[in-house]
Amino acid sequence: MSSNRRPESMERITTPELANAFIEEQLAALRAQIGSKKVLLALSGGVDSSVVAALLIKAIGQNLVCVHVNHGLLRKGEPEQVVEVFKNQMNANLVYVDAIDRFLDKLAGVAEPEQKRKIIGAEFIRVFEEEARKLDGIEFLAQGTIYPDILESGPVKAHHNVGGLPEDLNFELVEPIKFLFKDEVRVVGTALGLPDNMVYRQPFPGPGLGVRCVGAITRDRLEAVRESDAILREEFAKNGLEGKVWQYFTVVPDFKSTGVRDGVRSYDWPVILRAVNTRDAMTATVEDVPFALLQHITQRIVTEVKGVNRVLYDLTPKPTGTIEWE
Ligand code: XMP
Repeated sequence: MSSNRRPESMERITTPELANAFIEEQLAALRAQIGSKKVLLALSGGVDSSVVAALLIKAIGQNLVCVHVNHGLLRKGEPEQVVEVFKNQMNANLVYVDAIDRFLDKLAGVAEPEQKRKIIGAEFIRVFEEEARKLDGIEFLAQGTIYPDILESGPVKAHHNVGGLPEDLNFELVEPIKFLFKDEVRVVGTALGLPDNMVYRQPFPGPGLGVRCVGAITRDRLEAVRESDAILREEFAKNGLEGKVWQYFTVVPDFKSTGVRDGVRSYDWPVILRAVNTRDAMTATVEDVPFALLQHITQRIVTEVKGVNRVLYDLTPKPTGTIEWE
């Protein structure tokens, strides 16, 4: 049984040198644990699973099988980046699963937030399990568990997420970064050659854009969330706010309001901008985004995003608002 407590002697990984030493140590340990057997990994493209993928690709190459499930609720460009970085650049054995229709069909008409989360979590496990059963000779399941996951919620990544990964597949777990804190995972990710926008990206909820498309998800409103989010991220990056603000995103509620465009009355959705800072996500303050930038982002969103005629800025700290809208 491996312990779930970080060894007291373990130095905090703060430099590229310490990261390289950690990587070398892990490569040897992974090769010893796995030998010539095969490992399966659910690769979301988030920091933790990406770092685990990069480590395992180095350790065992093609014997790592990465499964990327595109549930249709990812941000613009994310699935493409996973394929580009892991398949094209790192030559990973990557199975890309287009499960967009499956998820959106299951979610159709479901408005209750926790119900939406449950459906997304359960469907994710189902899709992953189906893929796992198609593969032969897998004996290990790799997970991007990090130390705060263990401290907060036991052995499985469970923060807000419903379920976890399949338990009945009888895989032995491989958790190479389970004693690392997030800042250490990032240092290791950079040392492994992962791109900055993958390593330093803001937190993104497991149910993805699904909890930002308020109420029952429709494809057109989901596109409005995705496109407005891409504009917000692009403008924050251009204006030096990318690394400064902890989390920022857009929300599209399920109601419309009257507007006017080219002299003609419109009836379209509003987009809500949210940008917050926090230490631990338990409380949060609102970023003081320059007014001119808010106006510029508003102009771009109402011009470029289909079906949107207003933009609002959410001024609510946590409490009383949560960070997400659902
Ligand atoms: P709230 O909205 O509770 O969010 O103030 C706190 C942090 O948790 C993230 N969050 C989630 N993460 N699955 C996740 O993995 C979820 O269902 C979920 N809901 C919220 C949120 O983005 C914020 O960083």
